[in-house]
Amino acid sequence: MIKSLYIHIPFCRKRCLYCDFYSQTNLRLKKSYLKALAREANSYRKFPVLLETIYVGGGTPSLLTAEDFKFLFENVIWPFAKTNSCEITVEVNPDSTDKHLLNVLKNLGVNRLSIGFQFLSDRLLVKSGRLHTGRKAVKSFELARKSGFNNINVDILYGFPTQRISELENTLNKIIGLNPEHISAYLYTRPQRKPHTIVSAELRGKPPAAFGKENPDDLDMYRLVCKKLEKAKFRHYEISNFAKRNFFSKHNLNYWNGRGYIGLGAGATGTFKNLRIKNKDITSYIRNPLKKEEEYLTEKKRNFEKKFLALRTSRGIPYEKNQDEFIRMGWLKKESGRVRFTQEGWFVSNSVISEIV
Ligand SMILES: C[S@@+](CC[C@H](N)C(=O)[O-])C[C@H]1O[C@@H](n2cnc3c(N)ncnc32)[C@H](O)[C@@H]1O
Ligand code: SF4
Repeated sequence: MIKSLYIHIPFCRKRCLYCDFYSQTNLRLKKSYLKALAREANSYRKFPVLLETIYVGGGTPSLLTAEDFKFLFENVIWPFAKTNSCEITVEVNPDSTDKHLLNVLKNLGVNRLSIGFQFLSDRLLVKSGRLHTGRKAVKSFELARKSGFNNINVDILYGFPTQRISELENTLNKIIGLNPEHISAYLYTRPQRKPHTIVSAELRGKPPAAFGKENPDDLDMYRLVCKKLEKAKFRHYEISNFAKRNFFSKHNLNYWNGRGYIGLGAGATGTFKNLRIKNKDITSYIRNPLKKEEEYLTEKKRNFEKKFLALRTSRGIPYEKNQDEFIRMGWLKKESGRVRFTQEGWFVSNSVISEIV
């Protein structure tokens, strides 16, 4: 039974300088893209699906109009069976979020928002190519609250070139003051600049390849993020994710627990019955959304990915003897037959994972 659905909206008004997620800026393709999404969704109707989580990510989903969202829900989302408590998340950008859109999302049943703040320092927002100010980001959060959203995530970046610890501290203080339910704090990774970087859904909120190796201040910034958020009663439940009690992202936990999911849209990836399915870029996707690349996942590969993903979370993996050295070093800790990374251990997790998985 498939329990999660990811839908990729690959449109941005302008590409931010740091970002590697798959998107492009030709907004005129929106209507034909939505039709292609409906076609792709229909190709999954014959499979057993009962959705517990739906995630509309991007790109910038908030560039869709009210009419676009209605089309998306009616033709792509609602025909799938879902549970009554299904978590439905939509990513929104501060510069394209207004009261009308938020009301439309609420009425369509969206019950979780993810707002991309990145920074609240206007200097860094300009430097990174964002289209909004810090004030606008805060306003979009307040508007979301007023519109009745009681499960909101805020994305922030740290370790960004020239970012000062004081700027990060300021951003964290203001965000804690807003009292969101969830914060994703990503360590900046230098973009690869490939023209069509495909987003693998498991690695959204990635532990970047060079977690901890970009800049000497990274570790101090990571420690500051952990210290401030834990003090504010957020639980650090995954390398880059912090949440108030009962507000862990169910959608991401499904990925990290190695469950299969359907990924719809250009650049999206899904994992379905031992297959990793990778969709094409937007031009070929619109031409034929059913043309995909399929990779067979051997049992060995699936086991590796399962362990690798579980180690990103505070649940960890079952204890094995080859972990002892890292337990002694304080990077892993053992609790009731399982091991998990310590806070410091997560920071060096990439090098440890390659030794123990
Ligand atoms: C799909 S992206 C963007 C969502 C939304 N369009 C926005 O701009 O706010 C999800 C998150 O990935 C993070 N991200 C993007 N590029 C990154 C990078 N180079 N290194 C680390 N995190 C990154 C950002 O925090 C971003 O909010
Ligand atoms: S960060 Fe968001 S708005 Fe900026 S390019 Fe990436 S997906 Fe688009």
